[in-house]
Amino acid sequence: MVIVLLGPPGAGKGTQCKRIVEKYKLVHLSSGDILRSQRASGTELGKKAAEFMDSGRLVPDHLIIEMMVIAIESAAGNCVLDGFPRTVVQAAELDNELSRKKKKIDAIINLVIDDSILEKRITGRRSCPACGAVYHVDTLKPKVDGLCDKCSQKLVQRTDDKPKVVKQRLETYHQQTAAVVGFYGDKGRQIFDIDAAKSIDEVTALVFKKLDSLAAVR
Ligand code: AP5
Repeated sequence: MVIVLLGPPGAGKGTQCKRIVEKYKLVHLSSGDILRSQRASGTELGKKAAEFMDSGRLVPDHLIIEMMVIAIESAAGNCVLDGFPRTVVQAAELDNELSRKKKKIDAIINLVIDDSILEKRITGRRSCPACGAVYHVDTLKPKVDGLCDKCSQKLVQRTDDKPKVVKQRLETYHQQTAAVVGFYGDKGRQIFDIDAAKSIDEVTALVFKKLDSLAAVR
C-alpha cells in the first residue's frame, strides 16, 4: 500500500504519519527526515541539501528523486510518503517509478489549513534529535519540560523553524508544491481533503476513517 500525505509546512504531516504507520503497519518515508539524517551523517547529499533547507527552498528534484526511489525500494512499496512529492516533476517521477514496480498510489490525503495557523505551529515545534518524536510548546508538551518522553533527550528546535525561514517555506509551498494537488486532480485521482485545523486527535480520526473505508473495498 502506498499513501501520499500532502499539505503545507506545519500542517501535521509528520504527526499524522507516525499514527498511520502504527495502525496500518507501513513504513514512514519522510523526505525531510531523510535529508536531516543525511546532514547529521555529513554525506555529500546532506551537504548539498543544507543551504536549500536552511533558506526554506526546495532541494533540487534530481537529488530528491534519487533519494526517494531508494527509500521506496527499501520499504518494498508499503509506505506513507511525507513531504514527497513536492513538485510536479517529482509527482510524475513517482508515478513512473511505481508503475515500473507494478504499484500505484492507493490514497492521497491532503491536509488543508490556513497559513495564519501554521507559523505558530512550526515555531512552537520541538523535536527529539535521537528518536524523532515531535512536540509543541503549547499544544503537545512533553511530561518534563524540554525533555523527550520516550528517551529523555534534550528537545531541539529545527534550524528551519525560525520565523524568517518559515515565511519562505510557506511561499515555496504556494509557488511550487500546491500544484501537486492540481497534478493529481488533472489525472482524475481522488484526493481526500482533511481539515487540518482541527485537533491532532480529530485529524487522526478523519484520516483513519478515510483509510479504513479504502481498506474495506480493497
Ligand atoms: P520537511 O521536513 O518535509 O518539512 P515540511 O514539509 O515543511 O513539514 P514540517 O515537518 O515542517 O511539518 P509537518 O506537516 O510534518 O508538521 P508536524 O507534524 O511536524 O522539509 C524540510 C525541508 O527539506 C524543506 O523545506 C526542503 O528544503 C527539504 N525537502 C523535504 N522534502 C523535499 C522534497 N520532496 N523536495 C525538495 N526539498 C525537500 O507538526 C508541526 C507542529 O504542529 C508540531 O509541533 C505538532 O505537534 C503540531 N501539530 C501538528 N498537528 C497539529 C494539530 N492538529 N493541532 C495542533 N498542533 C498540531
